[in-house]
Order: sequence, then C-alpha cells, then structure tokens
Amino acid sequence: METLVAQIKPEEVKLPLGLALFAKAGEILRNGGLVAFPTETVYGLGGDAFDPDAAGKIYAAKGRPSDNPLIVHIADVADLNEVAREIPDKAKMLMEAFWPGPLTLIFFKRQGIPCTVTGGLDTVAVRFPDNDIARAMIKSGGGFIAAPSANRSGSPSPTLAEHVLKDLQGRIDMVIDGGASVLGLESTIVDMTVDPPMILRPGFVTREMLEKVIGRVDVDAKILDAKSPVPPKAPGMKYRHYAPKAELTVFEGEPIRAAKEMRRCADEAIANNEKVGIITTDELAVHFEGLNYRSIGSRIDPDTIAQNLYRVLREFDETDVEKIFSESFALDGVGQAIMNRLMKAAGQKVVHLANDNDLSKVDRIVFLDNSDSDRAPYAAYVLENMTLPRLISIESRGMVAPFPEPICQGIQMILEKQGRRAIYHSARELSGEDIRKDTLFLTFDLKLKVKLLRKYEGIDNVYTLPEFLEEPALEIPSPYGHGEEGYEECCDIIENAVSRVAAKLSLIMLD
Ligand code: TXA
Ligand code: MG
Repeated sequence: METLVAQIKPEEVKLPLGLALFAKAGEILRNGGLVAFPTETVYGLGGDAFDPDAAGKIYAAKGRPSDNPLIVHIADVADLNEVAREIPDKAKMLMEAFWPGPLTLIFFKRQGIPCTVTGGLDTVAVRFPDNDIARAMIKSGGGFIAAPSANRSGSPSPTLAEHVLKDLQGRIDMVIDGGASVLGLESTIVDMTVDPPMILRPGFVTREMLEKVIGRVDVDAKILDAKSPVPPKAPGMKYRHYAPKAELTVFEGEPIRAAKEMRRCADEAIANNEKVGIITTDELAVHFEGLNYRSIGSRIDPDTIAQNLYRVLREFDETDVEKIFSESFALDGVGQAIMNRLMKAAGQKVVHLANDNDLSKVDRIVFLDNSDSDRAPYAAYVLENMTLPRLISIESRGMVAPFPEPICQGIQMILEKQGRRAIYHSARELSGEDIRKDTLFLTFDLKLKVKLLRKYEGIDNVYTLPEFLEEPALEIPSPYGHGEEGYEECCDIIENAVSRVAAKLSLIMLD
C-alpha cells in the first residue's frame, strides 16, 4: 500500500488546501481506511470508530494485541452521547474544565461501539483533542475516530510525522503532517465508571488539577508502585512500551551527584568498548562533554522534557549505542507522567544514589558572578541581613576580579537611597581554595555554572539562582551600563530572589 503524506498548518485548515486534504482523508476513513493525524499530545492512527473492521486494521498496522482498547476521538462535546451510556456529573465538570485537551475519560459504552474498538470491554475511552487539524480530520471522517498512538507497538509514541512514517509507511493509507505535537506525552486517562474516579495513566492533567475540580481522585496502584502485584486497569499499561533498542538505565538521586555517577559509569563502559548514549538536561549537560549526549530540555521547565523525551529515545534508536544512561526527574506536576514513561522505557532499571552532599549540612554560601563588584556582593549583603536558622558564612566571588575594588557606584547609590549603610567590600576572584565540601554556590546564570563546573571538577553544590528557586523565568539582568533605573531594577529583583533563597534555606536547614 502506498502511504499518502499531506502537510498542513493549523491556519490552513479552512483554506482550499485544507478543504481538499480533509475531503481526501474523509473519503479514506469512510471507506474503512486508516489516517494518521497530529494531536496536541502525540500523533494518532485513526479509523472510523463505528466500523468494526477499521479497528482490526489498526491492530494489524501497529502490530498491537487486540485486547488493548482504542480511544474514541470526538470533535464536539455533544457527540459524547452517541458513544457513552452514562455521563456522571463529575465527568461533566472535568469536561468543562479540561476539554478540549489532553484528558481521556472512560465511560460505560453504548451498544453501537464495536467491541473490537474497546477490546471486548463494556467501557469506552473518549477524548476531545485540542488541535484544529485533529478536529477537522475527526469531522471529515464522520465525527467518531478510533485511534491509538500512531507507532508500531512497543516503540515510543510519535511526536512528528516522520516518526509515524518510520514505523507505519506502507501499512496505512495516509499521514497528515501537522508539525510537532506540542505536549509530547499521551493524555491523562481517568476512569469515570468508578467513584472516586481513578487515574489509569498520568499525563499533563495532574491529580492535583483534577482534584481541584471534583475532589478526591484515586490513582491506579500500578502507577504509584510498578512492583505492585495487581495488573494495571488500563490494558495498555501492562506492556513494556517505548522500549529503546539500547539498554536504558535511569539514575535517581540528587541531580549533580547522579550526573557524576552517570559520567563515571559511561567512562567505564566506554573503556570496555561499549557504545554509550546519555540523556541529560541543559543544566547538567556540562558533565558529559566529549560523550554522545542529548539534552532533552531544562530541569526547571519540565514541559520541555515531556516534549522531547520520545524524540530523543527515537534518535538514539537510529544510532548504534548499546547503553543509554538517563537522568531522572521530580515527580510533581507533569513529572509523574515523564517518570512513568521513562521508567517503562527502562523496564524499571534504576540506579539509586544515596544523597550524601546533603544541602542541610551547608555552612557557607557563595554568590558567584562574572565580576565581584555588583550583583554578587549585593546578593550576599541582602542575605546576610536576613535571619536563617543557624549561622552560616555568606560570601561573594567573581570569576574574574583582578583588583580588590569596592562595590560599584550604582549599587552604592541604591543603598544610599534605601537608607542603608555602605557596604565595605573588596572584590575577590574565585580560587581553588573556595571549592569546599561545605559550600553552596549560587550563580547568576547557566553560563557561570558551566564555567565553574568546567574549571573545578570535584565541585558538588552548584545551582543557578533560577534552578535553586525552581523558577525558570527568573532573570537577574546585569545592571552594568543601564543607568540608575537599571541598578534599581536589578537590586529589586535580587532582593526578591534572595528572600526566597532564605526561605528555602530555612526549610532545608530545619528539615
Ligand atoms: O494522547 C493520547 O491519548 C493519544 C492520542 C493519539 O490521542 N492516544 C493514545 O492511545 O495514547 P493509545 O492507544 O496509545 O493508549 C490508549 C490507552 C491504552 O493504555 C489503553 O489500554 C487504554 O488507553 N484504554 C482504552 N480504552 C480503555 C478502557 N475502556 N478501559 C481502560 N483503559 C482503556
Ligand atoms: Mg500508545
């Protein structure tokens, strides 16, 4: 079979190009054919949900076991009645809050839905995607499209049309290429046939978000504990999805410590002539220079990690690496969905690292900047004037500080305005003696952190301020050359950020 590939942008859906494209897709679907299409989560492989033979073709094209039910995609909330027998009030509240969007709900099914679509179950999963191309495609096919993710069974879900083609070219009638899926992980699945409702697959819509709308929501035991003896409630969750060809190991623990251990294991494996790939993040990539590594995003912006995870797993599949070592991620927010997929890909293979560079033992904080004459000494000054649970040394350093200068004029001026005393400061350049086990380094940006880690290998506790505060958007502009206003703005931002640093340190110290 020849697979037709058609490209389209969301803004072209209603233009002649779009109309022609969806007319073609509709014709294929009504004749029982299969069309892959983009959604905001991942690409789906669609067939007419009311055509019992279409489901069989989907299973065959994917190489998927037929006991694993499909999701019925709709493009209009009113159409839910044609598919679901009962719609509980809590479901209506969730639909109101999250549809269209990355949330799949499970209902008791109506007779008309073929049992091939639901894998023989009396329930049906329904999703209303938030993507104009997906909705136009669903409507073109009659409004009810049964679709799993458009990958061969066992490989990562596709987030690009080229992933679909790699897996399914020649096996399906058409692929609609609408660019990258913006979210990158499959929808959250919630079973609405039980009360309290239960999450069967974690995704972007988190338990906290659901509970805000309908109160208590349970989570399938298998998601919280992969070793739980009960089988997962969503049939598809029992398969070892997303398995890359190489052996994947996840390193869990304090991020810098995990990165160092990954590096050590990688160097050892390479010495044994093994080919190693590394999955890292922008913040920790510096540990893997010279190795075959890929950054999947920023630790402080987990959405970027969700978006790139499958692409990176697929990219490693195109290479000859035999082992992949990956960082792990915090379980809050979308983190639970990320770790759920990553651990499945790893077949639960994990290295746990004890956390021995415990921040609660920190006795000294060094603010590090390019120079030691404006932002860094001001931040140190502000923190010194805050109360912490115990006495620690607070200092500042510059990467370059050839002269023992005082704090710059601009900052002196702000201090005067604030009615504060002048700071008696003389700039100090960072030296080897500053690298001590008891020290926490806070840098003003990622470049500085990378410079520091490059220069001193053994160093443990280094965070950028946005990273330490878990505020990806935090930017502390250099005031240099920006006049009085620039200094004022910079000092305000520092004042604010440092008060949050103090709050966080207090929590850590009291822990
Ligand atoms: O984001 C998504 O949900 C994507 C896009 C294409 O919409 N679709 C997707 O479909 O991930 P699929 O087939 O790869 O995953 C559907 C999951 C499977 O784990 C399946 O077992 C579960 O939903 N499922 C479907 N119907 C179910 C039902 N009636 N009861 C329990 N689980 C069900
Ligand atoms: Mg899938």
